[in-house]
Amino acid sequence: MATVAAALRRRSLRPDELSVPSKAPKTFPCVYEPGESATLSDVTSAKESIRADVMDCGGVLLRGFGIDDPEALEKLVESLGYNLMEDYTPADVVRSAVSKRVFTAADAPLFHFIAPHHEQSYSVKRPGIILFWCKKPPAAGTGGETPIFYTKELLGGFDAATLEALRTPLVIGRYYHSKEWKPSRYFRFLIWLSHFVVKWLALPVQNLEHHPPWQTVFHTEDRSVAEQRVRDLSSGMSLSWSPDGGAIFSAKVPSIVKHPVSGEERLTFAAPQWSFASFQACHEAMDRILPLSRWLSFRLRAAIADGLYRMFGRPEYVTVDVNGKTNPFAAKGVEAIWDQAVLFPWKRGDVLILDNVSAMHGRMPCTDRTRKILTAIADEYTV
Ligand SMILES: [Fe+2]
Repeated sequence: MATVAAALRRRSLRPDELSVPSKAPKTFPCVYEPGESATLSDVTSAKESIRADVMDCGGVLLRGFGIDDPEALEKLVESLGYNLMEDYTPADVVRSAVSKRVFTAADAPLFHFIAPHHEQSYSVKRPGIILFWCKKPPAAGTGGETPIFYTKELLGGFDAATLEALRTPLVIGRYYHSKEWKPSRYFRFLIWLSHFVVKWLALPVQNLEHHPPWQTVFHTEDRSVAEQRVRDLSSGMSLSWSPDGGAIFSAKVPSIVKHPVSGEERLTFAAPQWSFASFQACHEAMDRILPLSRWLSFRLRAAIADGLYRMFGRPEYVTVDVNGKTNPFAAKGVEAIWDQAVLFPWKRGDVLILDNVSAMHGRMPCTDRTRKILTAIADEYTV
């Protein structure tokens, strides 16, 4: 175990700090909190210990240090030696910048569930580190955790044939609407009605996920600029156009990559978000771990909120899974991932530092609209 500055306490999350019991290692995440009179400079002095724990344990939670603005977060993260990134392109959810290098984690409606994923694992260039900062925790009992998943040892559970399939780069793709799509009022009503019924009956759905039009994803209205941005990212990525003005983004990425620091093989993938079968399995796995009262409340509220959102919101959020069924991982590994889930209620000022190669994250549905969790990414690497 690394040496910790005397002013800090290093511990595991206590059972009473978890939303549901967890089977993940107790040190995921490793918690640092101030002792009697610790200051932020004590966190900086514990830099080597914190960085080692992020690597070894998969994540570190800094709790009780009173981080209260994005600039303070940036300063802290840089003092720990992480190289914050300014560009979040391409992003498959809408984010807003709150400072130069701190963003909203996702602007999708809070009642939507975000399935586990390694950040930007659809890209060959990815952040090695992802950070979450709790500016305003959701009220107790309203959900909204950022579930984290320990994936460091996930590869051990697969047979040789599956491992071989996962090492082979796979083309994943997604269709994004154009902003031009403007159905009639009558059609919108029918869409709303059908989605409402689907949600009400708790049917597994993929197309109710919130995804932006391509203009938002690639931060431009110009097709050639969007194409150039994709080309700049990697030769393995491409953008093509559908007759209705939508964009089809595809990428060829391996699911098994080498850790940029340790060189060990790790499973990193976005399957639950990009494959229908996996997303469906994720919903079922989430349902199983939630207490019944919370599950019922989520289903009921989500149905009402989603219906209203769709009726009065903008009809721009349908994503079509172009090849979900071809992913060899598909639903198979979802169970193993949820087995390693950790859900803890946020506290104001919490900073979570995750090794984006050894841990996944997602978002539990939340009914408190005032929840504010911000994010930053650092230490880009290429697979
Ligand atoms: Fe994410």
